[in-house]
Amino acid sequence: MAKGKEMHEIDQYYVIGNPVKHSLSPKIHMKFAQQTSQQINYEALEVPIDQFIQTMDKLKQDEVSGLSVTVPFKEKMCDYVDSLDEYAKIAGAVSNVVIDTNNKWQGINLDGIGLVNDIQNNHHISFQNKDILILGAGGATRGILAPILEHKPSSVCIANRTISKAQIVVQDFKPFGVLKSMNINHILGQYDIVINATSMSINRQLPNISLENFKQNAFGYDLMYAPSGTVFTQWCQTNKINSSDGKGMLLELSKEAFLKWREVNVCTDNIL
Ligand code: ATR
Repeated sequence: MAKGKEMHEIDQYYVIGNPVKHSLSPKIHMKFAQQTSQQINYEALEVPIDQFIQTMDKLKQDEVSGLSVTVPFKEKMCDYVDSLDEYAKIAGAVSNVVIDTNNKWQGINLDGIGLVNDIQNNHHISFQNKDILILGAGGATRGILAPILEHKPSSVCIANRTISKAQIVVQDFKPFGVLKSMNINHILGQYDIVINATSMSINRQLPNISLENFKQNAFGYDLMYAPSGTVFTQWCQTNKINSSDGKGMLLELSKEAFLKWREVNVCTDNIL
């Protein structure tokens, strides 16, 4: 709670984005609050694209207690906050804002932790000694890479349409581990975990991937989510490849955010 706040005021949280109506975050966080008897309010706030700074200034003045940040503000938030954690710095993107008692804003990135926790804890698949293929080299890829590399996979390959962008990602993430880059339209090799981090699912487009790129018992994951799965997870299903969309990642990263904001652990079982 910020210094100037009255004890009886309920702590207010938002997910900010544009559009943001579709976000599952308010439901997830209010369920967490119910489960742990925390007195909070959490709402979706659609921020006009050209009024980001003004809206954030107003939230700061109102002493909001914390934020989740979604498209298209994850990068912009990096320049607004007072400090960044290591993952947000290397990703160049913020997934959540933690606000201290002096109303100082820290931008953190929990995307990678959410993804790794979902795949390892909920799908029971370890990253260690695995060959990983990541499709895409944009902000979503940058957000998940560091925690993946910290779990010591055998190899990580970044496949992108614009190869120069994949090469920059490989350079930037060198301190975290060894990566290689590839053209998304000529993917070579076989992989244990294939992660779709392109934005193609928004337009119901399928990346140019072949069944031959999947090892036996491989796992497919899409960072995006949709009520009946994304085109990528549907393609995996059709080809009998075990897969998941990104709802579990959102749930796991929300759990980490709730812990940072409220210092309370939640149980994610049966929430989805
Ligand atoms: P995000 O923040 O969601 O990662 P982004 O930074 O715009 O969004 O990145 C989108 C990613 O999806 C990029 O890797 C992009 O490839 P390019 O770098 O070549 O643009 C990829 N992508 C989007 N549409 C695509 C398409 N039709 N075919 C292949 N890749 C696509």
